[in-house]
Amino acid sequence: MKNWMAALTVAGAFALPLGAQAQDNYPSRAITWIVPFAAGGPTDAMARNVANRVAQELKQTILIENVGGAGGTIGAAKAAKSTPDGYTFLVGHIGYMAAAPSLYARLPYDPARDFQAVFRFPDTPLVLLVGEKSPYKSVSDLIAFGKQNPGKLNFSNAGVGSTSHLVAAMFASQAGMEITPIAYKGAGPALNDLMGNQVDAMFDQTNTALPQTQGGKVRALGLTSSERMPQFPEVPTMGEKAIPGFQVSTWYGLYAPKGTPDAVVQTMYQAWQKALQDQAFTGRMSEQGIQLLQPAQYAPAAFQQFTAEEIQRWAQVIKQAGITLQ
Ligand code: MLT
Repeated sequence: MKNWMAALTVAGAFALPLGAQAQDNYPSRAITWIVPFAAGGPTDAMARNVANRVAQELKQTILIENVGGAGGTIGAAKAAKSTPDGYTFLVGHIGYMAAAPSLYARLPYDPARDFQAVFRFPDTPLVLLVGEKSPYKSVSDLIAFGKQNPGKLNFSNAGVGSTSHLVAAMFASQAGMEITPIAYKGAGPALNDLMGNQVDAMFDQTNTALPQTQGGKVRALGLTSSERMPQFPEVPTMGEKAIPGFQVSTWYGLYAPKGTPDAVVQTMYQAWQKALQDQAFTGRMSEQGIQLLQPAQYAPAAFQQFTAEEIQRWAQVIKQAGITLQ
């Protein structure tokens, strides 16, 4: 089902200076960014945040199309098969663009072969959350229960291969305990059930976890960042209290189907570079616990190389942690 949500409609349109090859009047009509999770989750929130600001530079509408399911791989497959004309892109991330090749035996796309990296977004660390009525007051409490009660702790996630699934599996493996993963079509629905005390815990990205912790609906036990964060002043890092060296962030970025003209890639990247110069915009992202990168890390070639490296890295992580499709 399509969930067309206009990220931004801006009256009037004229083309930005294009890259090497002139593309007449690109973008001359609305652009679609496929987000392969349900609306309301961190990937959706990040995508709308970036799309709104890039749309202002392009002076064109960017529509977010949510296509949930299978940890993001259904939406990614749809994007891989889309026409490479500069009007359909994928908002990709660490799960379905790097971990999925090592989790799914028959992935209906190849992240390296079927896509061209356009630009990387900033990262979001994750935070281990429990419901407000949970008996667990610390990561250590949760681990103690999990070790004594194998399989009893239910962790909600956004589907197999999602960050919330991967990070929970890494956590369980490094803590020496067995958990039960419960899959949803996105972290939004997964967080809703945590707030309803239907599940015991989940790892969510900071941009969507923060308002719920501030509202007292969920309690944050540990951050997956390397340092404590001012947005979560009382919350230790996972590495500090429970599992030394436990550090992971969700990375995201925009990908075009292979064959998209390079001038289109450059036009989209130039719009993003202009957006990153807007300190009010980048300041708002930092307030959500989003971690800005070094400027060079956002570029198409750097992001393409990073994606290839991450596919290799996650193959090792998944093998060592024994993470499977469950
Ligand atoms: C995840 O990988 O857990 C996703 O970020 C979930 C989402 O954005 O809905």
